[in-house]
Amino acid sequence: MAATYSICVLPGDGIGPEVTNCARRVLDALAANSGPRFTFETHPAGHGTFLDGGDAMPEATLAAAKAADAVLLGAMDVAQIPPGGGDPLGGLRTGLEVGASIRPARTIAGVASPADDIDCVVVREVTEGLYSRIEYMVGEDTACAVRVVTRAASTKTARMAFEQATARKKQGRVTAVHKIGVLKLTDGLFLDAAAAVARDYPDIEFETRNVDACAMELVREPARFDVILATNAFGDILSDIAAGLAAGLGLAASGCIGERWAYFEPVHGTAPDIAGKGVANPCATVLSAAMMVRHLGEAASADAVEGAVAAVLAAGAVRTGDLGGNATSTEMTDAIVEALKARQ
Ligand code: IPM
Ligand code: MN
Repeated sequence: MAATYSICVLPGDGIGPEVTNCARRVLDALAANSGPRFTFETHPAGHGTFLDGGDAMPEATLAAAKAADAVLLGAMDVAQIPPGGGDPLGGLRTGLEVGASIRPARTIAGVASPADDIDCVVVREVTEGLYSRIEYMVGEDTACAVRVVTRAASTKTARMAFEQATARKKQGRVTAVHKIGVLKLTDGLFLDAAAAVARDYPDIEFETRNVDACAMELVREPARFDVILATNAFGDILSDIAAGLAAGLGLAASGCIGERWAYFEPVHGTAPDIAGKGVANPCATVLSAAMMVRHLGEAASADAVEGAVAAVLAAGAVRTGDLGGNATSTEMTDAIVEALKARQ
């Protein structure tokens, strides 16, 4: 008997509702072909939710996220939410005790990209660092942000990076990113925690890189990277560089994973320019859903979804505008669902 999983869906803003609906169709197709079943419950969060009720991250939504087997998120227009209006992404990441955001970036056959041989994963701490959300004014003309780095969070994230390097069986290398020359205390602690974890993984090579040098090397020699371990802001930037080098944000998936809870989201934002038009590329969300399926222990189904997306992209006949085609989100999803039938 195939298992049933409860999924809490947080569609959010902009193209979020469209792309999560596409991903739900793909997940439903798994069940139709005797794969696992999914029940979906949609809950409010994001800028629209703030406009409706003054809180972008209602308590009830976090409770629903915790009660589900996993969470699938669309996109949130966090820049529009004023201070005090709620923090959906920060709230989820801390509320679900996420250890890292796992962001794979790899070249996809048939999709033109600046790098034809990138296959890395950014493992990014997402609850503290420069994005601690602790900011204050000193007088009227000086604004400060507090970069918080704890040994507990750094250790948790580092462990996830080494686990990724072990599971991926690529070079078996973790590159920890820092700016130790300036951030002596915070990155000193971060690197110290990472080095301590490295001692538990003697088969994985551990190296460190200044973030600026790492950004350049990533562009010049993407193939040498395996797992990049980073604090919050550095990982945010490097994961977008990696996605851009690979197949673009339209195909970049991610999962925020903790010991008990996890949620999955495309790396892209709300794309307000195309929201509501039905032309957004659903692949990043479909691939995030595949990461979710893998996290739930359904590796064969995750492989099938990833294979179906890859097949559609390789065939090239059905593509959304960002990939140079003119297919709608629905047509792209139809093609993925069709390709999935052949793979289960
Ligand atoms: C991401 C996003 C978010 C982040 C923003 C929207 C707060 O850029 O998930 O990469 O950096 O945390
Ligand atoms: Mn980002």
